[in-house]
Amino acid sequence: MAIVGLCALLWSSPWGLAQTSPGNPKNGQVLYQRHCLRCHGEALDGKGPDAAALKISPTNFHSYVSRIKDNLELWMTIQRGRSFSAMHNWNDTLTDDQIKDVVSYIRTIAPHVNP
Ligand code: HEC
Repeated sequence: MAIVGLCALLWSSPWGLAQTSPGNPKNGQVLYQRHCLRCHGEALDGKGPDAAALKISPTNFHSYVSRIKDNLELWMTIQRGRSFSAMHNWNDTLTDDQIKDVVSYIRTIAPHVNP
């Protein structure tokens, strides 16, 4: 719980901008299609063309367990990657703002829910 609180704090403070500029979903969609679709799928359901070959399936962003995650948590996973899975880090490919744009695209299609 403390971690969730901390995440909420981080999301809203160091960037200050988080509230006023939550990312550009249109730009995020282009980035998603270029980099993420092959695993996470066109419908964001984790069924991209490359998904079947993976041992750990790409996240279905419509699932409840994913939708309860806040923006910062998604942002950090994209930036740093997830160990032992095909989800590598993207901080050498995408800028911090581009990652924000992708998060905002994901959340436009699969909105956050409060647990
Ligand atoms: C090579 C396949 C692959 C590509 C390309 C890929 N991912 Fe993933 N992604 C995965 C897998 C596999 C997981 C699940 C890891 C796990 O369950 O531990 C994952 C997990 C995630 C998660 C964590 C979701 C959650 O609910 O915790 C996010 C966010 C994510 N990916 C975003 C992206 C974005 C954005 C891109 C494009 C910039 C991308 N991924 C590209 C395979 C991929």
